[in-house]
Amino acid sequence: MSLARTNLAILGLQWGDEGKGKVVDLLSPHFRQVVRFQGGNNAGHTVVVDGQSIALHQVPSGALHPGCFLVVGNGVVLNLEVFQQELDRLKARGFDLSGRLLLSEKAHIILPHHIALDQWREVRADKVGAKIGTTGRGIGPAYEMKAARMGIRLGDLLHPERLAERIRPGYEEVRLRLGADAGLPALEAIVEGLLRTAEPFLPFIGDAQGHLMAAWKRGDSILFEGAQATLLDIDHGTYPFVTSSNCSLGGLFTGTGLPPKAVDKILGIAKAYTTRVGAGPFPAELLDATGDRIREVGREFGTTTGRPRRCGWFDAPITAHACRTNGVDGLAIMKLDVLDCMDEVGLIVGYRTGEGTVTTKLPSCAGDWAGIQPEVKRFKGWGSTRGITDPRKLPVEAQAYLESLAESVEVPMAYLSTGPDRAEGYVYPGTFLEPLLG
Ligand code: IMP
Repeated sequence: MSLARTNLAILGLQWGDEGKGKVVDLLSPHFRQVVRFQGGNNAGHTVVVDGQSIALHQVPSGALHPGCFLVVGNGVVLNLEVFQQELDRLKARGFDLSGRLLLSEKAHIILPHHIALDQWREVRADKVGAKIGTTGRGIGPAYEMKAARMGIRLGDLLHPERLAERIRPGYEEVRLRLGADAGLPALEAIVEGLLRTAEPFLPFIGDAQGHLMAAWKRGDSILFEGAQATLLDIDHGTYPFVTSSNCSLGGLFTGTGLPPKAVDKILGIAKAYTTRVGAGPFPAELLDATGDRIREVGREFGTTTGRPRRCGWFDAPITAHACRTNGVDGLAIMKLDVLDCMDEVGLIVGYRTGEGTVTTKLPSCAGDWAGIQPEVKRFKGWGSTRGITDPRKLPVEAQAYLESLAESVEVPMAYLSTGPDRAEGYVYPGTFLEPLLG
């Protein structure tokens, strides 16, 4: 096993669920530090090991490799109860994280009233047709409390005597909004529950920024694992149908405290088609048998909520936007095999506007997406690509499709995945990934 000399960021280029978990899992044995920097248990990474899958939500995917030190940065919001369940599941499968986990003292905690507010708001919004379709995990309210300066950070757990006073202002605001009958647990119960859940985590809380800074200075290789994806980024996504963190590259710097110089390369992850969970613009969506087929073959159901994902062709304009926003150096295209054995495969190369012109520019207002129609380029389908590990064995039709795809987003291919297992896929020769995975 060679250790990387490149600090690498792995970022989603669509609406999440691109298969980042598999790539991080493949790459993490080559890195000393694996870092999560935003999001919470709205994320869900499924990694497949020896045919068995393990779902992780908050624990960095490097958990399965004993040589990786795992860091949860300050930009993350944590549900400690769920974190404990993940640690227990990992332990039951023989993966022990003692001595190789650090949680930033500046990371925020998701509390029961955040979850209640998230769910209450979605029910109300649904009545007026304005539902976001959140995961209902309290992610938005936890980030809101952070911005409102009423958030609770892991470091606060080290001062239990002040905890009730710290939690009270946010709790009272939520209670005012939800009303006394909302069935919120009492403040005392929240504090007690938090202290109990937090107890086993106390030894893991510390200065993650200082740890990463030191690791960078001494030349440890660092892998940064993005959660969600650029089109769900609160600034650069399809606002307001987004999550509440910066899932694109900027979030890495605020979410760790490292400067831009600490990242050498950016690997962008996209599926060979597009999916989205929850409401919001999705020009590529196929509301027909083809969409259903992609969902069934690709098992496109949420890891976190089990919801069926909306499916459509690869959307070049949204992915190109994500590549530009993140300065992506190479593409990892996942799940090509899901498109196997179709008569034809589509690629969205632009949007036709109401005036009949074709553009690749994304509307900035959610309402403006309704007026655009996808411009689809059709490709001849191919046979099976499942499990291919040699570029020369890829059917020519699939090759033509991928060449067009990479050209349309102006970023070269670096990795192709042809099945869920670690072994299924290959690295493109001559790319920055080759020294690691080639
Ligand atoms: P929230 O992050 O729970 O507030 O949800 C906001 C939006 O982001 C919803 O459309 C969710 O379905 C979506 N979302 C959040 N996390 C993920 C993810 O990991 N994969 C895909 N969609 C996500």
